[in-house]
Amino acid sequence: MVVGGGAREHTLVWKLAQSPKVKEIFVAPGNAGTARIAHNLDINPNNVVSLSKVAQEKRIELAIIGPEAPLANGIVDHFQGIGVPIFGPTKKATEIESSKVFAKELMQKYGIPCARSTSFSTYTQAKEYIQRHTLPIVVKADGLAAGKGVTIARSIPQALDALTNLMKSKVFGAAGEKVVIEECLSGKEMSAFAFTDGTTVIPMVSACDYKRIYNGDQGPNTGGMGSYSPPHFMTPTLAKMVKETIMQPVVKAMEKERKPYEGVLYGGVMITTDGPKVLEFNARFGDPESQVTLPLLKTDLVDILLAVINGNLAQIKVEWSEDVCVGVVMASAGYPGSYQTGFPISGLDDLDTDILVFHAGTKVGSEPEEVLTNGGRVLTVVATGKTIAEVKEKVYTNISQIHFEGCHYRKDIAEIK
Ligand code: AMP
Ligand code: GLY
Repeated sequence: MVVGGGAREHTLVWKLAQSPKVKEIFVAPGNAGTARIAHNLDINPNNVVSLSKVAQEKRIELAIIGPEAPLANGIVDHFQGIGVPIFGPTKKATEIESSKVFAKELMQKYGIPCARSTSFSTYTQAKEYIQRHTLPIVVKADGLAAGKGVTIARSIPQALDALTNLMKSKVFGAAGEKVVIEECLSGKEMSAFAFTDGTTVIPMVSACDYKRIYNGDQGPNTGGMGSYSPPHFMTPTLAKMVKETIMQPVVKAMEKERKPYEGVLYGGVMITTDGPKVLEFNARFGDPESQVTLPLLKTDLVDILLAVINGNLAQIKVEWSEDVCVGVVMASAGYPGSYQTGFPISGLDDLDTDILVFHAGTKVGSEPEEVLTNGGRVLTVVATGKTIAEVKEKVYTNISQIHFEGCHYRKDIAEIK
C-alpha cells in the first residue's frame, strides 16, 4: 500500500510494480497514472483510522508513506500497533522534519554541520535578535508549513514581517509558535537521501531540486518544478563527506536521543566553502527528487524496504545505474496560486517509448483513456540517458508533445551554469 497521490507516489508504485515479490498494489488516493498499474482507494492520506482498517482488510504486507503529514500524525506507530509492516519513521523520529527547533538542537548537540541559529518561542525576543543581526537572515517556522515556512530576509523590515506572520498572525497556526532564526548560507544546494534501519546507513543517489516557479529561480516557491540526478558537482569525495559528516552522525544521534530513525532520511544540504551543511531534514522521499532517483535504482526496492523494516539493511547491496535522469514538472496555469482543474491532457501517447510520465494532479475522465488535470502540479516528465545535455534535450522534445489548457513548465531544469 502506498499512501499519497503525487508524482512521488506514482514513481514508488511504478518501481514496486517491477518487483517479482509484489502481487497487488493499493494507493490512497493515487491518481490517473497509478490507476493504470494499481488499485486507487478514495481515502485521505491523513485518515489513519480508515487506512489501518483497509490495510487489515486487504492484508497489506508492506505499506509506504509518501507525504510528511501522516508520518507526523503517527501512522507508522499505528500500523506497527496493528501488525502491518510499514516503511517510515515513527512520530517521535519524524520530529526531525516536523520540528525545526528539535532538528537544530540535535545538530548543535551532536556537531552536525549546519547554519548557526537560535530558536525563539516569544515574539519580543525574536524581534530583538533580528534587530541586532547582520543581513541576510533566515526566519523559519518550527513546524510543518508545506515548504512555505522559510523566509530569506534581505532587510530588517522583511525579517520582522515574516516573524509577525508566523508568531502574531499565525498564518501557519501552531507551526509558527516557535521560530528558528539562522545565518544565510550560500553555495550549491542538493538533496541527499539515505535508507536506514536505525543503524546501517546506505545513501541513495542525490539530486538537485528546482523550487521556484519561473526560469532562473524567479517567482514564488512551489512544491518543486523539476529535478535531476546526480548533481553535476557530485564527486565520490563529496558523497562520502555527506554520508560521514551528516547522514551517519544524525542516525546515531537519533538513536542516542531514543528516537531511533528508520526509513529514508532526506537532507537538504548546502555545499559551502566550509563543506556540506544541513538546511533541513525531511523524514521521507523527496518530490520531485523521487521521480529522478528511483528510476536509477537497480536493486529491488521491496528488498530494501523490507530490510529497513526488519533491521537487516547491512545485508543488502544497493546498486545504482551510472546514468543521469532529468524530470520536468508540468503545472496548471496559476499554480502555486489558485488554478482551475478538469482540462483534458493530450499527447501522452505520442512520446518516445523510453520517456516516463509520472502523474500528480490527474484523474481519469469519462472515458477510461481520458486523463484530466486535477491539481497544481500535474505531471513529471522524465528521461534517462548518458549525459545531462542529451537527457535534457530528450525530456524537452517530448514535453512539447503534451498539452493541456494553460500548462506551463520551467525551461531550465538541469541547465548547468
Ligand atoms: P527548508 O524548508 O529549510 O529547506 O528551506 C527552504 C529553502 O530555503 C531551502 O531549500 C533553501 O534554498 C533555503 N534556505 C533554507 N535555509 C537556508 C539558509 N540557512 N541559508 C540559505 N538558504 C536557506
Ligand atoms: N523536494 C522538496 C521536498 O520533497 O520537500
